[in-house]
Amino acid sequence: MPDMEELLYPTKKERVEDRRKEQRHRKLQDEFFDHPTLTTISRLITQGQFESIDYPISTGKEGGVFRATLPGGFRAVKVYRIGNTIFKRLPPAVLEDLIREAGAHQRARLVFAWARREHTILRKLAAAQVRCPEPYGYLRNVLVMEFIGTDGVPAATLQEMVVEDPGGLYEELVEQIRRMVHNAELVHGDLSPYNLLLWEGKPVFIDVGQSIPSAHPEASGLLARDVATLAKFFGRWGVDTSPEAMLESIGPIRSASEAA
Ligand SMILES: Nc1ncnc2c1ncn2[C@@H]1O[C@H](COP(=O)(O)OP(=O)(O)OP(=O)(O)O)[C@@H](O)[C@H]1O
Ligand SMILES: [Mg+2]
Repeated sequence: MPDMEELLYPTKKERVEDRRKEQRHRKLQDEFFDHPTLTTISRLITQGQFESIDYPISTGKEGGVFRATLPGGFRAVKVYRIGNTIFKRLPPAVLEDLIREAGAHQRARLVFAWARREHTILRKLAAAQVRCPEPYGYLRNVLVMEFIGTDGVPAATLQEMVVEDPGGLYEELVEQIRRMVHNAELVHGDLSPYNLLLWEGKPVFIDVGQSIPSAHPEASGLLARDVATLAKFFGRWGVDTSPEAMLESIGPIRSASEAA
């Protein structure tokens, strides 16, 4: 039983902590759960996509990813922020696509197109047997996907992990990129240890909304950048590789003219 005194007169530390909690809560509400987004979430709940949103797994510049609960399981819900979205991370070609699709420069409509794009790309990857969260649906700026984790605990990114078998993981990753480029015909375009989850000992691609078709003229440049980042990362783990060696294992991508 808590002491009555303690309840009535919280310590300074408790009051500060309470205020912090309140601020965090308000920040989440302001940044992600504005009124239209809450309406969207309630429609997704009505559709049976999930029953409740539990907590943020991550909050970033462009959005937040939340764990959601469903009877008997979990889902990951990505809420794209409408207010402060920065489109700078997108390759120019993707931004052009979004503008074309949204039919306007309106920020909200661009963001909706971006969420839909990530859903479409996840579907293509899943169809090509590339390890990624299975997409379950989207509405406006909210994307619902498979929760990658175990017993409700989200999987860590490669960045946060101590990799036990870097060589094996490297081989698996190269195979996954190969499938992505040749079977799904897509180049991720923002590959880094932050956008790869390690789950059941294997990599899972996330954050795929900026991916572009491998036949696109910008694709080989983006692939070169992706592998350079990863070769550096695995090099630090003692894997003997280079961007060139990685590209060689992945195999050349078809150029736009070959694809046409
Ligand atoms: N399907 C998922 N299951 C579990 N965790 C996930 C899932 N998708 C994303 N996450 C977690 O959320 C984080 C952010 O996801 P993602 O990179 O897609 O969002 P983002 O808005 O682009 O964020 P950032 O700006 O930080 O890259 C990931 O690093 C990962 O920890
Ligand atoms: Mg990310």
